[in-house]
Parts: sequence; C-alpha cells; structure tokens
Amino acid sequence: MYPQKRMRRLRRRRMLPLFAEHHLRTEQLIAPLFVDETAREPTPIPSMPGQFRYPPDEVVPVAARLDRAGIGAVLIFGIPADKDREASAAYDENGVVQQAVRRIRKSVPELAIITDVCACEYTDTGQCGIVGPCADGCMDLLNDPSLELMQRIAVSHARAGADIVAPSCMLDGMVQAIRAGLDDAGFCETLILSYSSKFASALYGPFREAADSACRFGDRKSYQINPANGREAFRESLTDAGEGADVLMVKPAGMYLDVIAAVRELGLPVAAYQVSGEYSMIRAAAKNGWIDERAVALESLIAIRRAGADLIITYFAEDAARWLQEAA
Ligand code: PBG
Ligand code: ZN
Repeated sequence: MYPQKRMRRLRRRRMLPLFAEHHLRTEQLIAPLFVDETAREPTPIPSMPGQFRYPPDEVVPVAARLDRAGIGAVLIFGIPADKDREASAAYDENGVVQQAVRRIRKSVPELAIITDVCACEYTDTGQCGIVGPCADGCMDLLNDPSLELMQRIAVSHARAGADIVAPSCMLDGMVQAIRAGLDDAGFCETLILSYSSKFASALYGPFREAADSACRFGDRKSYQINPANGREAFRESLTDAGEGADVLMVKPAGMYLDVIAAVRELGLPVAAYQVSGEYSMIRAAAKNGWIDERAVALESLIAIRRAGADLIITYFAEDAARWLQEAA
C-alpha cells in the first residue's frame, strides 16, 4: 500500500524500456500494395494520402524498397482493366495480380508475398463473388457457386508465386474450398491467411475508392459480420481454424481489439488489419494539425499488438519502419 507501493517507480526514465510489455517490430508489419492495370505511372489515391496505385511494371522498385526497410510482407490488391459478371480477370494467368506477383517473386525473392483473394475488384456488380437470386428472392452473393471462383483465384495466385493467399470474401466454406483447390493443384505449402473475422465496417470507404470495389447494388451485410457481434466474430475465426487456416485475421483492427484478444486464444498466428478508414482518419487529423501523426499512428499500432495481434497489416508500414529505425 502507498507509500511503500509506488507504481511510478516502474516508469522512471531509465526503467521504461526494461518494463515495456509489448514491442512493434518492422518485420511483423505488412504493407498493402495496389496494382492497377490501367495506371501509366504511380497514381496518388485521393482518399488515402500517401498511398498510390502502381502500374504492374512498376511494382518491383516499391517492393524492393519495402524489403530494404525490413517490412515482413506485401499484401497485393489488383485493379483490372475489365470487369465482368464472372470476375474472369481475377484468375487470368496474365491478370494484374499474377503479373505483379511474378515480377516481385523474381526480383525481390526474399520478400513474402500475400495476395488478396476476392472478386469485388473484378465483378461488374462490385460484389465479392457470383451474384444471383437468393432464398428470399433478392439478388445477393451466392455462397456455394462463388467457392469455385475463389479456388481458381487462389490457385492462379499460388501458381504465380504467392507465398500466402488471403481470402477476404467471408463466404462459408471458403478456407476449406481453397485448401482443397491448392492441394489438388500441388500447392500444399502455400499458406492461407483467412480474413476470418471481418466486420461489415464503414471504415472500408477509402479502400473501395482506391480499389474501385464499391458495391454497384446492395451492401456486404449478408456476409460480413455485424459490428455488434463479438461472439459471432470469434465463431467465424474458430470455424476457419477448423477448416485449415494457417493464420487468422481480425479486420478492422483498432475498434475490434476485444475480438483480437479473443481470437488469439485459438492458438494460431493472428493478423490484424488496420484498414483504410483507420489510416485516413489519422492522416486527415494530422494534416489539420490536430494530432501528432507519428505519435498517434505508433500508439494505434502498439495497441493492436497489446490486444494480441502478431502481424499488423497497415498503410503506415513504411512510415512506421522509418520511425522505428529513427528511434533505435
Ligand atoms: C475486399 C477487401 C476490402 C478490404 C480488403 N479486402 C473491402 C471490402 O470488404 O469492402 C478493405 C481494406 C481497407 O479498407 O483498407 N473484399
Ligand atoms: Zn471483396
């Protein structure tokens, strides 16, 4: 009891590093990378200041830079020239992601490559898979018919050289289907990072502009989780772990720290995705001079680690690598 017990002793200046419970490490950061088949040069993304869409033939210098900075992996998203009902550009051997993966694999061999496996950038509906009339008659994402599409996308990414495929469509059975598809095609060593607990969040707004993946009708609430539901989110990750996911993910990150902490108990590595809206809010406030960008960004990242994430996907990856370097 006070005055014998003084909590502030642990916080004396020289003691601080000794008693830090968690650390941010550059190799546990994953940088998203937008590859745009229609771009002629790196094109700034207005809703995400500091982020760019890169033409496929300009991804190598960026990947090399991220690798030199010590970043653990890139997460590749593609913006195709053409969209159709079947998302056929998503599994094209010469598609935008496949090209980018082959180039990075060849020129930056040490960098881990993760690909986003979804169809919303490739369908003319903007929905994450095949659409049709569902049980109650409305048009919606059809679950089982979309699974084969996800298998084909994942296999084409693995064939191009992806180390990890990351399905983000929240279909039932997606991990099992992709695992079977990869194994049948001989890619039993390709990992699956499942977007296992992904919420129907308004924080994806800037990304949908960046990736041109907004829904042309409806929304994603029949497959992404209601933000009110923590136990349901846990059950989603539990299910994907059972289907053979190698890594689980909680998305968004900062408003769902309770879910990260719960999912960690499943024992698999856990990734958290600090999404576009989380990034853009910090950027915007900082640009207005209202907050200290570096301090708030680093605080947001260490909070995600404290909650229990091993890996963090963040648009701050490259900045954070520099900040950590400067602090070392
Ligand atoms: C595609 C996908 C989305 C994000 C990652 N993969 C958008 C969505 O589900 O609408 C969001 C990433 C971000 O906001 O940074 N399914
Ligand atoms: Zn999608």
